Amino acid sequence: MKHTVVIGTKNKNKLKEFQALLRGSGVRVLSLKDFPGCKDVKEDGKTFEANTRKKARAYAIHTGLLTLADDSGLVVRRLKGKPGVYSARFAGIGCTYRDNNRKLLRLLKHVPASKRKAKFVSVIALFYGKKCVGGARGECRGRIAFEERGRNGFGYDPVFIPAGFSKTYAELSRETKNKISHRGKALRPAKKIILKFCRI
Ligand code: IMP
Repeated sequence: MKHTVVIGTKNKNKLKEFQALLRGSGVRVLSLKDFPGCKDVKEDGKTFEANTRKKARAYAIHTGLLTLADDSGLVVRRLKGKPGVYSARFAGIGCTYRDNNRKLLRLLKHVPASKRKAKFVSVIALFYGKKCVGGARGECRGRIAFEERGRNGFGYDPVFIPAGFSKTYAELSRETKNKISHRGKALRPAKKIILKFCRI
């Protein structure tokens, strides 16, 4: 069991991205699906760091294995950093990704291209039991599109255009997104910590 990491997320899309990024590393990747009794953790922190540590610690205690959690979200300059840690429930509790994107586009309706700057943030924490084994942060800068475009990915992918691209995250392949994304940038250093922990 030494060569195992549990990805502490119930988000299928995030899990797929992490699995792709860890493929071929020699580490066995499990997810919370392998631990059906694992309860949700309330994300009530004011920062990505606070939420991710809370999730990673709780899930690691439950699994008894090295466990990674990520808290991520979209930070829009014009909206003073919103939706930020509230990205998942921007349009209200129980809202869909579509509801969130529509709310965002509505709020930025009359905002010109030059003022639509945004960034995606991913903060990863790794815990083994109650002990924090490490962490990492990744950011991807870009801007908000004027309409939803593309069918890949999830969440705000159809409205986020990474810097240096004209396509949205949702129009990019998973491989390209992983290369440049906030989550990819956070996971690369986190992967080193995992490999060291697993002595690979
Ligand atoms: P949490 O990290 O599970 O609290 O939720 C993060 C929320 O931020 C997700 O529900 C998405 O709405 C959004 N998000 C995080 N990462 C991405 C991404 O890579 N693409 C699009 N949306 C994302």
